[in-house]
Amino acid sequence: MKNLEPAAPFNVPVKDNCSILPVRVFLIIMIITLLSLVSDSCFASDSCVTADCHADMGKAKFVHEPVANSECDACHAETGKTHPGDKGAFELTEQGPALCLQCHDNPGEGKKHIHPPILEDCTNCHNPHQGSRQKFLHEPLGDLCLMCHDQIEQIINDSNYKHEPVAKGECLNCHVPHASNFSPMLRIFYPRNVYTKFTSKKFALCFKCHESDAFTNRLTTDATNFRNGDRSLHYVHVNRPKGRVCNNCHGVHGAEQPKIIHSESPAFGAWNIPIDVKMTKTGATCFVGCHKERSYDRIKKVVNN
Ligand code: HEC
Ligand code: HEC
Ligand code: HEC
Ligand code: HEC
Ligand code: HEC
Ligand code: HEC
Ligand code: HEC
Repeated sequence: MKNLEPAAPFNVPVKDNCSILPVRVFLIIMIITLLSLVSDSCFASDSCVTADCHADMGKAKFVHEPVANSECDACHAETGKTHPGDKGAFELTEQGPALCLQCHDNPGEGKKHIHPPILEDCTNCHNPHQGSRQKFLHEPLGDLCLMCHDQIEQIINDSNYKHEPVAKGECLNCHVPHASNFSPMLRIFYPRNVYTKFTSKKFALCFKCHESDAFTNRLTTDATNFRNGDRSLHYVHVNRPKGRVCNNCHGVHGAEQPKIIHSESPAFGAWNIPIDVKMTKTGATCFVGCHKERSYDRIKKVVNN
């Protein structure tokens, strides 16, 4: 019968029993040490989240369900390199929005206007793992939007008068984050022209929070302060076949003059019309562009000529 005794480890020449013993002891200690190291590591564990590895994963206030369920491999695939250790041991299972659309419906599906950052990467706004905020958003809502919208940030910072929901960062009262059928990324329709034939429905965005009476009643003593005696000047300007859209006069985000009135009407694009309002206790005097100044007074009706 053949000798089935294993060869001496590493072909250590067997001289006598005295010299082989320290080598064996050394090897056994090495193996035990290595084994104990490995069993502590993430790699040998069947979870990526242990006391030593990615320990904060799943500990935040809001945790993404696949993370909570340790389905790391839904998004991370092993490349074959050693982990931990080598760089590039994992790659994402899909790139950009496709990573998320493995499980989520495409929020842009069937919508006329797609918010460009959702086409680029959902992680522009969402942390893929978890966070201290609902939906794992990177920033509180207002700040989140202002990360990219410098122009709006500038309007808000420069405005003496800010529209309250804007100042509170409640952009989503009027806008949606992913996609919309109503430009610009609005929850519901709002006229984008300078003039429009008035209907209450067209201004439902504003009338969600403001009374429509000032615009539907020709005469009023309380529905609006924009009135001359009891004649509503909101009605006069807005409720007509060629009615002025609110943002001819008001900045929807903020503006320089009281009652968030623009100092320049932006409605005509490059050709901005200067507006100058001097408020009094009971009315105001307005200088608009090249027109004659006009005044209104709620107590003593002004006759402009
Ligand atoms: C929904 C998809 C998704 C899931 C599920 C997921 N990740 Fe990630 N993870 C990402 C994305 C996206 C990145 C950013 C990667 C990049 O930019 O290369 C990332 C980055 C990382 C990073 C490196 C950057 C960082 O944030 O520290 C680690 C570590 C990580 N993930 C660990 C995990 C672990 C552990 C799990 C499971 C508990 C997990 N991930 C589950 C999507 C996911
Ligand atoms: C492996 C499947 C899977 C992948 C991939 C995935 N998600 Fe999720 N996600 C879920 C599940 C399941 C929930 C919990 C159920 C729900 O609310 O839809 C969830 C919830 C969410 C929520 C919270 C929903 C809420 O109403 O609170 C957000 C936000 C979210 N995911 C964003 C993302 C983003 C961004 C990505 C890509 C980086 C992504 N998800 C990738 C499965 C996934
Ligand atoms: C511009 C920032 C931004 C981007 C980019 C973005 N989201 Fe969101 N997402 C939000 C905000 C803000 C909310 C919270 C909406 C709310 O509370 O009404 C949200 C909510 C969600 C929710 C919860 C359900 C819902 O619709 O309210 C899911 C799921 C989600 N997003 C998935 C995605 C996916 C998938 C992508 C990429 C295709 C993506 N998001 C890209 C900002 C963003
Ligand atoms: C990661 C960057 C990014 C973030 C975050 C972001 N946006 Fe945008 N948004 C863009 C880009 C890019 C465009 C297209 C270019 C433009 O019009 O500024 C756009 C367009 C828009 C438009 C349409 C502008 C137009 O003239 O048609 C609105 C409205 C808008 N975003 C609102 C928001 C709101 C509200 C939030 C927060 C929920 C937000 N954005 C967060 C990048 C971003
Ligand atoms: C009260 C409703 C309302 C709120 C709140 C609001 N917006 Fe708007 N936003 C609008 C309307 C209406 C328009 C379209 C104005 C127009 O036609 O000129 C608009 C336009 C925009 C545009 C397109 C560029 C422009 O000025 O025309 C961006 C970007 C935008 N908003 C971002 C934001 C951000 C960011 C916030 C939060 C800080 C916010 N909005 C809050 C109503 C609102
Ligand atoms: C989410 C609720 C909300 C929406 C939508 C909204 N507003 Fe406001 N608005 C407010 C609040 C709150 C104030 C501050 C309290 C007040 O004066 O009524 C305010 C104040 C104003 C003011 C200044 C009033 C003052 O006394 O200083 C004007 C002008 C105005 N809004 C116009 C608009 C226009 C135009 C729209 C539509 C594009 C609109 N609002 C949509 C909530 C809203
Ligand atoms: C021709 C300019 C003009 C237009 C167009 C206009 N407003 Fe005004 N609005 C004013 C003036 C001026 C005031 C200030 C009245 C005062 O306090 O003396 C005002 C005040 C307001 C106020 C404060 C409460 C009040 O009525 O006194 C709200 C809210 C408001 N406007 C909403 C709107 C909405 C919504 C639209 C569009 C449907 C609109 N405005 C269109 C000029 C205008």
